[in-house]
Amino acid sequence: MSEFSFVSLFDKYLVFSLCKIVLSFGLFLHLASVFLFRDPNCPSPYELLECSNNINPPISSNPTNLSHLLFGLLGSQNAWHHRKNYIESWWRPNVTKGYLFLDVYPNSTLLPWSKNSPPYKVSKNITKLVQETQHVAPIQARMVHGIKELFDQEHEGVRWVVMGDDDSMFFLENIIDVLAKYDHNKYYYFGAQSEYILSNFWFSFDQGFGGAGFIMSFPLAKALAQDIENCLRRYPFLNSADLITMVCIVDLGFGFTPLKGLHHLDMRGDISGFLSSHPKTPLLSLHHIDSIAPIFPLMDRSNSLRHLMKAAKFDQSRLVQQTICHHRLSNWTFSVSWGYSIHIYEKIMPRSHLIKPIQTFHTWVKKPKSPPYYMFNTRPRVNDSCETPHVFFFKTIGKMKNKNEIWTTYFRSEARGLPTCSIDGNYPANYIDKIQVYTPRAKRTEMDRRECCDIIHTSGSNKAKIKLRECFTNEKIA
Ligand SMILES: *[C@@H]1O[C@H](CO)[C@@H](O)[C@H](O)[C@H]1NC(C)=O
Ligand SMILES: *[C@@H]1O[C@H](CO)[C@@H](O)[C@H](O)[C@H]1NC(C)=O
Ligand SMILES: *[C@@H]1O[C@H](CO)[C@@H](O)[C@H](O)[C@H]1NC(C)=O
Ligand SMILES: *[C@@H]1O[C@H](CO)[C@@H](O)[C@H](O)[C@H]1NC(C)=O
Ligand SMILES: *[C@@H]1O[C@H](CO)[C@@H](O)[C@H](O)[C@H]1NC(C)=O
Ligand SMILES: *[C@@H]1O[C@H](CO)[C@@H](O)[C@H](O)[C@H]1NC(C)=O
Repeated sequence: MSEFSFVSLFDKYLVFSLCKIVLSFGLFLHLASVFLFRDPNCPSPYELLECSNNINPPISSNPTNLSHLLFGLLGSQNAWHHRKNYIESWWRPNVTKGYLFLDVYPNSTLLPWSKNSPPYKVSKNITKLVQETQHVAPIQARMVHGIKELFDQEHEGVRWVVMGDDDSMFFLENIIDVLAKYDHNKYYYFGAQSEYILSNFWFSFDQGFGGAGFIMSFPLAKALAQDIENCLRRYPFLNSADLITMVCIVDLGFGFTPLKGLHHLDMRGDISGFLSSHPKTPLLSLHHIDSIAPIFPLMDRSNSLRHLMKAAKFDQSRLVQQTICHHRLSNWTFSVSWGYSIHIYEKIMPRSHLIKPIQTFHTWVKKPKSPPYYMFNTRPRVNDSCETPHVFFFKTIGKMKNKNEIWTTYFRSEARGLPTCSIDGNYPANYIDKIQVYTPRAKRTEMDRRECCDIIHTSGSNKAKIKLRECFTNEKIA
């Protein structure tokens, strides 16, 4: 029922009169603006729109590239000895711009400084400011102050300032592609919420959790850098760098925009369930590498990051993007997380079910009280023939000769150890041990829809092939 059905005749008349007044006044304002505030550079008042477009050229005329990004990584001398490998897996020496800020000078084990690491700076001694304000968290204050130190260091030609930790993995191509869609002359504060609901409640739902990386457009970074010492004086009682940063930004009149591809990873243990059902958005970062298990079985943390980067080097746009298709002859469902894993279910399952990560991981807080724990829906990890997938992990990658395709292979990590699912006809997938996936060489530029796929598998063969392609109009996976 329309809400207007309650309006009486009298009200209708009143509304009509009010409309007339508003309309007349609006017309007056419009004419006034046309004649009084005429832009001298514009040929005619009616071309104001086009004219202002000429003043601010469209973003695409000069696309954002890596040279426009400035990175500030906050770390400690102590942890750098092992975290150096994490950063070197994605940092491009002499190409990526930015600095690592250490608490103290590197000791002799770290010297000479690795050419594959970001150049380092030692954080400014802000003891005076900390003492003056009796700041409750000197280390956190040092981290916030790092934003100003980075900005003061270098900002010529910079469009975006990206802050992260010494255990943050960034996927540069994807970050560039995402940022290129926004106007760097405006004020943006991008970041990630915590995956753990209560962390957002304890700190803020409106802050970027630092390790995931938070990204500021140039004008915002500039405004924040100019105000940061004042802001540290305003909030000496706040004990979290990310929270202080957020309140400083809010005080300047700007607000937070979450990007779903940035991951603080406030989870523990095996996050393969999460990476196998990544949200439909480019992967931008991973964090908390030391708190999670290595992301590939039988590899240590550094090697598993390097392994993921092998796929990333070929195509970041598809990395961990989930594509689902059905093999109708066996009633199987394949769920591909490109460059990472494949799950086979012995049952037809809709996409809407499979986009929920299997809860292979544990909560950030060791003994949480009661759910909900996560900022997304999950599926429980169960031992059930029809719900438990056969799991395969990414092994090798290459380009097809003569064809515009990239191939990736995936191998079974371990036997599933369960009987066959009998619901959809009893077709065991136990003997499949290798899957090849073919994707176009061209990266995906429009991510508004997931891709679809076709499966080539002859009954009895231990191999399966999958070809990813754009979906047909109205094609549904259910
Ligand atoms: C990045 O863009 C700048 C223009 O802002 C251009 O001068 C430079 O050549 C570009 N770099 C690359 C690697 O495309
Ligand atoms: C340098 O620091 C690391 C970590 O703090 C330590 O393990 C190593 O022994 C130190 N090296 C020297 C030469 O002091
Ligand atoms: C980076 O540039 C410096 C000097 O321009 C050079 O000495 C160094 O070898 C370069 N590093 C790499 C990894 O190419
Ligand atoms: C930092 O500055 C304070 C005085 O402001 C000084 O006492 C302290 O020794 C300095 N610390 C370092 C590591 O230089
Ligand atoms: C599933 O079964 C395996 C082996 O029998 C066992 O180790 C594992 O704990 C079980 N998992 C669940 C969620 O019950
Ligand atoms: C697949 O499962 C459906 C529903 O359970 C069943 O009707 C159909 O016969 C099965 N297909 C095959 C090839 O077994």
